[in-house]
Amino acid sequence: MRKNIVAGNWKMNTTVAEGVELAKAVAAGSSEVPSSVELIIAPPFTHLVPVAEVVGGTRIGLSAQNCADKEKGAYTGEVSADMLVSAGCKYTILGHSERRQYYGETDATLVDKVKLAISKGLSPIFCVGENLDEREAGRHFDVVSEQIKNVLYTLSADEMAKVIIAYEPVWAIGTGKTATAAQAQEIHACIRKVVADKFGALAEEITILYGGSCKPGNAKELFACPDIDGGLIGGAALKAEDFIAIALSF
Ligand code: 13P
Repeated sequence: MRKNIVAGNWKMNTTVAEGVELAKAVAAGSSEVPSSVELIIAPPFTHLVPVAEVVGGTRIGLSAQNCADKEKGAYTGEVSADMLVSAGCKYTILGHSERRQYYGETDATLVDKVKLAISKGLSPIFCVGENLDEREAGRHFDVVSEQIKNVLYTLSADEMAKVIIAYEPVWAIGTGKTATAAQAQEIHACIRKVVADKFGALAEEITILYGGSCKPGNAKELFACPDIDGGLIGGAALKAEDFIAIALSF
């Protein structure tokens, strides 16, 4: 059975002390959320260890926002999958559009990152999505299909079973513009079909999250769609109350 998940990507926000407080507030609010909904938070690297102490023993899963494409060694400034596991992470976001756009992350690098993360026991939250030009040119299905094929088609079925996909249209991230539920459902169904073309029935088990200006006010409509299994939340994840309200929208 595929899971319903609400994941908070804190991006480059909060100090360590603020992050610990936010994690405590999310943990306190999580008791209201039905156990059928999985909760994940993805703080910055510096926050992982103290936040792991806060969420340890709660139902909240810990995720990183990125992970190195190399196992270990002389790669100054990088953080490895082993380090994330040792800090208490079960997940890592990979291929976020901000990494692709501002830090030159390519599908080729992402193949290495996704495989390495899985081999170390992490579940990747693998992000795909088109930019505004691509959407306006009607190329969004092709762009997203290519992203999936270039990276996820290199995985075995056992590896693929560990992946969570997040569809995040770049034009909807932090802009206040959300994809309509119909637009999101249409592309989520396409993503599931592309996964099914390679992995067959496993596609039905894969969780596909929507991300991009998802808020308490629009989450219900989005989550009601048959191929939308939850959300990857940016701005609204920085307020525990909003994050929990989104998790209550199934
Ligand atoms: P916003 O919810 O701030 O639009 O960000 C979405 C996102 O990029 C989550 O990874």
